[in-house]
Amino acid sequence: MLKVNFEKSRNLLSKKYPRMLATKKFEDLPHPDTLNVFFGNMMQLRKERIKFFVKQKKEIGNIYRIKVPTRKVVVLTDPDWIKYVLVDNNKNYTKSFAYDSIRLFLGNGLLTSEGEFWKRQRRLTQPAFHKEKLALMFQNMVEQTEKCIQNLEKYADTDQSVNLSKELYKLTLDIVNSTLFYSEIDNTTDAIYKLVSEGSEYITKRIDNPLQLPNWVPTPHNIKESRVLHSMDKLFFSIIERRRKQKEQHQDLLSMLMEARDEETGEVMSNKQLRDEILTIFVAGHETTQIALGWTFFLLTQNPDKTKILTDEIKNTLNGETPTPQNIRGLHYLKQVVDESMRCFPPAWIMGRRTIEKDVIDGYEIPTYTNVIMPIYVVHHDESVWDDPFDFIPERFNIQNIKEKHKYSYFPFGGGPRLCIGNNFAIQEMQVCLAMILQKFNIEVDENFVPELDPLVTLRPKYPIYAKVWKRV
Ligand code: HEM
Repeated sequence: MLKVNFEKSRNLLSKKYPRMLATKKFEDLPHPDTLNVFFGNMMQLRKERIKFFVKQKKEIGNIYRIKVPTRKVVVLTDPDWIKYVLVDNNKNYTKSFAYDSIRLFLGNGLLTSEGEFWKRQRRLTQPAFHKEKLALMFQNMVEQTEKCIQNLEKYADTDQSVNLSKELYKLTLDIVNSTLFYSEIDNTTDAIYKLVSEGSEYITKRIDNPLQLPNWVPTPHNIKESRVLHSMDKLFFSIIERRRKQKEQHQDLLSMLMEARDEETGEVMSNKQLRDEILTIFVAGHETTQIALGWTFFLLTQNPDKTKILTDEIKNTLNGETPTPQNIRGLHYLKQVVDESMRCFPPAWIMGRRTIEKDVIDGYEIPTYTNVIMPIYVVHHDESVWDDPFDFIPERFNIQNIKEKHKYSYFPFGGGPRLCIGNNFAIQEMQVCLAMILQKFNIEVDENFVPELDPLVTLRPKYPIYAKVWKRV
């Protein structure tokens, strides 16, 4: 006799016709225990961060609400529903509360703007990331990696460990700077690192604490925050001023944005808007890739058998030549290593949206202005999707294996119309850097490195990664 699984059919139906099937109220959503009536889960969240979400997935499942003062928050880890929010019904969502804090620093750039304004800015920026443009940037990426290799050379075959995190930071900063801003950004790596780190910390504090006073109230925290902001403004406005005075033409993103005119009004972007756009691309474009590269070297050190497959591939495919846009396409295992590394340690570990109108998810009514949080890290470690999720197995990403996975069980770059604009840039960059560095050196992350996570806006390691460098013979 044909058995009908009513529960499954109802779920499938509700995914297709969500508005018709709100059978449960928002308050019916399961939620973790709260220790404090007023703060709800806020303290646990601040203390445990990723661990909190991993625990709830195990104990509650793929959809639950969390209690925090002044906000309605739902957490989703089911790929079908993530797709629903990011793609199918994306028009009903803006970015979540976290972006209100990010906006304080980055202003109204591509990452934080909304609606028609965002659409226009995305249309203007997109051509800088087209395939042909990426091919032109390839040589630049190679040159910057050569500089990094020269620095690493100083440590090669000595007992001295190099601060790999710092070298990779400098490398990714130089790449964004030289490819998109014609090396216009004053290259004081330490100062920029300090600014971005402090900014990140302040943003996280605001995200974590819904009760924090608005930024115009002169609390010690707000005063420090506005100092960081002021330094950022100074740096980025001076770049714009300098470029406006220059006579020579550049073909970079900055010039493209400066020359872009509004189709209807014919107006060019104000200095403030330019500052927001370039600061956004600059911040979004280097730290994420640096983090991904650092974790990749750690994972390769932990898995010498995988490193051997990779370095053999590099040796046999490149034959000692420098990578080119053509020969790099033959490095299939390298691409799998990059993908698997971002599964294990997704540099952007969490993302969120907020409902514009009420919605229905999995039968639950989701009120207007509810934040829907999608912890990418948790989805990437879901045991029902990934066997041995905490093991580093690049082969998961060969064409055959990955075909069988749900598209939203792996989404390091987000999805839908707001997909990361720099995704192909970042992948190409990582491929060039890894191929060239591994072609020259064997990198061994120090044994005593503790891979503890420091999940602020991005998934930084808590401590810098130090490594020994050995020349390949
Ligand atoms: C491994 C590297 C990277 C990772 C993991 C990453 C991740 C992400 C994610 C998850 C989003 C979506 C956020 C959301 O929808 O809420 C995003 C958006 C964005 N990323 Fe990336 N990113 C990376 C590299 C880059 C690079 C290299 C650039 C630029 C050079 C860049 C620029 C941006 C911008 C401008 C947005 C906003 C796009 C929009 O909303 O239209 N990212 N990124």
